[in-house]
Amino acid sequence: MARTSSSSGRLLAAVLTASTLSGLAGFFYARERPDVVDTLTNPQFGSPKDYERGIEELRSTLPSEDMVSTNPDDLLAHGWSSHVWHPGLPHTVVVYPTCTEDVVKIVKIAKKYRMPVIPYSGATSLEGHFLGSEYGGICVDMSGMDKIIETHEADSDVVCQPGIGWMDLNETLKSKGIPLFFPLDPAPSATIGGMLSTGCSGTNAVRYGTAKAEWFLNATVVLPSGEVIKTRRRSRKSSAGFDVTKLFIGAEGTLGIVTEVTIRLAPVLPYRVATVQFPDVKHATEAVVEVLNKGVGIQCVELLDRDFMTATNQFGASGRQYPVSDHLFFKLQGPSTNSISETAKIVKEVAERHGGKGWRMAKNDSEGAEMWMDRKMAHYTGMAYGGAGAKGWSTDVCVPISKLPQLIQETHEDIIRSGLKCTMVGHAGDGNFHTLLLFKTEEELKVVREVVHRMVHRAISLDGTCTGEHGVGVGKKEHLYEELGAGTVELMKTIKRTIDPLGLFNPGKLYPDAPGKDPHAEP
Ligand SMILES: Cc1cc2nc3c(=O)[nH]c(=O)nc-3n(C[C@H](O)[C@H](O)[C@H](O)COP(=O)(O)OP(=O)(O)OC[C@H]3O[C@@H](n4cnc5c(N)ncnc54)[C@H](O)[C@@H]3O)c2cc1C
Ligand SMILES: *[C@@H]1O[C@H](CO)[C@@H](O)[C@H](O)[C@H]1NC(C)=O
Ligand SMILES: *[C@@H]1O[C@H](CO)[C@@H](O)[C@H](O)[C@H]1NC(C)=O
Ligand SMILES: *[C@@H]1O[C@H](CO)[C@@H](O)[C@H](O)[C@H]1NC(C)=O
Repeated sequence: MARTSSSSGRLLAAVLTASTLSGLAGFFYARERPDVVDTLTNPQFGSPKDYERGIEELRSTLPSEDMVSTNPDDLLAHGWSSHVWHPGLPHTVVVYPTCTEDVVKIVKIAKKYRMPVIPYSGATSLEGHFLGSEYGGICVDMSGMDKIIETHEADSDVVCQPGIGWMDLNETLKSKGIPLFFPLDPAPSATIGGMLSTGCSGTNAVRYGTAKAEWFLNATVVLPSGEVIKTRRRSRKSSAGFDVTKLFIGAEGTLGIVTEVTIRLAPVLPYRVATVQFPDVKHATEAVVEVLNKGVGIQCVELLDRDFMTATNQFGASGRQYPVSDHLFFKLQGPSTNSISETAKIVKEVAERHGGKGWRMAKNDSEGAEMWMDRKMAHYTGMAYGGAGAKGWSTDVCVPISKLPQLIQETHEDIIRSGLKCTMVGHAGDGNFHTLLLFKTEEELKVVREVVHRMVHRAISLDGTCTGEHGVGVGKKEHLYEELGAGTVELMKTIKRTIDPLGLFNPGKLYPDAPGKDPHAEP
């Protein structure tokens, strides 16, 4: 207890310092540019009449009227919020471009009538990234831009449109007999454009890194001005200045619309799925820390807590039954059966030294794939576990891996004390885990909010982050001052103001309004 209060004291001091600094930064911005309205804090969108004209012009300018929808069901289906605390609203209009030229037309109309632009793709992001707001605006649904343009097997890269799903891409390569795949694996229906824009990762990150590694080579982007740029050429590496592609990775649609991407691929290697049980999550994470330092072929290592196993036994995708205890799920990878067996021996030995029991290897690929799908469907399984009418708040903290056992232990105890129903799964090899906190009543939601706050502060005080992979959206905005510091946040805002001076692109997302504002405070 004493620990917690002294560290929150330090946090408070840090936040106060940050707020003073950033208050000053805002002041200087206003003083240096008294002629300019800061569209980030004071958006200047068009009138309802402007919006009407904008919609008319979209209809008359795009190749077909079918590409423009004002059907109320469509507007709401695209504007709903993936974040429990932030109800979404219908967008004003949804458009369905099929090529870069369509997107340029849309952006120019948005600019002319000062309508917000909200890119939308697989719609699996979890922090209210694409929700509709009181500003209204044009939701740009990229799902029609899902073509593979060129495949360069010898270069192990692919040029594609951003609306293609990573699983479809994977399947297409497989069906063409190309032994390569794209290793970023967030939600099964996520798309390349959304993955780039959220800076995603997934279970493969322990082996292949995240969207912030060099998986995205060059991108074609329609900027808020309507200008089209290519961020780079197709070569594997380049030192030609700083990395402009990276500017758009994790920008969450606030700096432009990505309309084409060149992505790197990795060779498909055999793997086998193995599972092992632990007395508690702390022992399991300690085993992970040691396994990783062995340097053996680990493609994935996932932590699944006992509550998640209970949920999976009841609602899992495969219908398989697992022992109810804290588990690690591994994908052991290597070029040959021998190398995988060697890895298995080493991993099993380390796991058992940390209290691991019941080591089990999947019998064959289809059994392994089923077990892995049980892990991938965690979000849906967890929601089903909440029962009828339950809602879930998904968390995403990440810390340096050596701090993970402490973070998980303290969080687990906090959740037990809170009395909430919850499942936990984690990309343990990255120091990243997700709890799905379930609730039904307003009272319970309050408790959830407090638990989330404590978890985020705990992670940041361990030199970690409020979001390992899901991104900021509206749900994590206000943690950025605390996590990154005022200077860094102001630099992000400066970039945003420069590229999108009218503040049209995905307004209200990513950039925190002001330091010290509680994102989960009662509205
Ligand atoms: C079951 C489940 C499991 C998940 N597991 C993981 C996981 O393991 N790892 C992980 O990182 N995430 C995970 N997520 C979150 C989610 O899958 C990722 O955030 C993913 O990258 C979102 O991709 P999307 O295509 O659905 O994007 P969307 O949700 O459609 O959009 C995300 C953001 O990108 C912007 N955007 C979309 N397309 C473009 C474009 N072409 N140009 C510019 N901006 C664009 C949107 O405006 C929005 O801000 C999970 C979600 C679910 C529901
Ligand atoms: C992606 O492709 C690889 C190689 O074909 C395959 O092993 C893997 O199962 C695929 N993953 C998904 C989820 O489709
Ligand atoms: C990448 O660069 C090459 C060379 O300029 C270009 O042909 C290609 O279209 C670019 N790809 C994207 C996605 O911009
Ligand atoms: C894989 O193993 C399981 C369990 O032993 C078995 O039921 C199944 O038939 C096997 N599948 C294949 C494709 O060999």
